[in-house]
Amino acid sequence: MTSNDLPPNAYRLPRTNQLEGLMTIIRDKNTSKGEFIFYSDRIIRLLIEEGLNQLPTIPKHITTETGEPYDGVGFEGKVCGVSILRAGEAMESALRECLRSVRIGKVLVQRNEQTGEAHLYYAKLPEDIHNRFVLLLDPMLATGGSAIRAIDVLLSKGVKQDKIVFLNVLSAPEGLRVMNEKYPKMKIITGWVDRQLDERNYIVPGLGDFGDRYF
Ligand code: PRP
Ligand code: URA
Repeated sequence: MTSNDLPPNAYRLPRTNQLEGLMTIIRDKNTSKGEFIFYSDRIIRLLIEEGLNQLPTIPKHITTETGEPYDGVGFEGKVCGVSILRAGEAMESALRECLRSVRIGKVLVQRNEQTGEAHLYYAKLPEDIHNRFVLLLDPMLATGGSAIRAIDVLLSKGVKQDKIVFLNVLSAPEGLRVMNEKYPKMKIITGWVDRQLDERNYIVPGLGDFGDRYF
């Protein structure tokens, strides 16, 4: 897979001028922390809206202020967010801006700086997570190791693969391929797909360590 074609379970945000400009700012090594936070938050908001678009709706009949009937839709099903700490926490406030009292679970996974291997330290999830759609939040998908640790916790709690939508700002073709092989029924929405991983398993051209730049 190159950065131009995607596995069938992955969707990339449209390459608008706005998105390209925002990505350019957060990739720039001269961008300050404040600007990095501000412009990442704008991209994250686009991802959250697109993630919510994947959730089902049911027909809803209402009467408008003019007294006319209107056949619209209502939101269906329970939802929660699960952030992969630390960097995934950066995506929680945009989710809360869209779903005011959304339940949020957390999974702490850290990559070994030398080997890139991911280790699961902690998970705290809503009790009834098996009855919910899960928006899984992590800005970076590199090898996929961290996401695998987190998704396997969700599956062990009874969450169905096809009820998980994984949202990330930037991904590598390697990580997308692994996600498709292991979890073909899970949807992935990514802001941008970069060229490849380097020898330290960083995404290139990339933006560096998202967590270090945001927090
Ligand atoms: C970063 C990032 C992802 C992971 C992606 O986390 O937030 O969780 O790396 O890489 P992978 O796909 O190869 O697993 P990191 O472990 O650096 O921790 P952080 O969130 O504290 O920055
Ligand atoms: N995690 C990051 O924050 N950046 C990368 O390039 C890869 C993993």
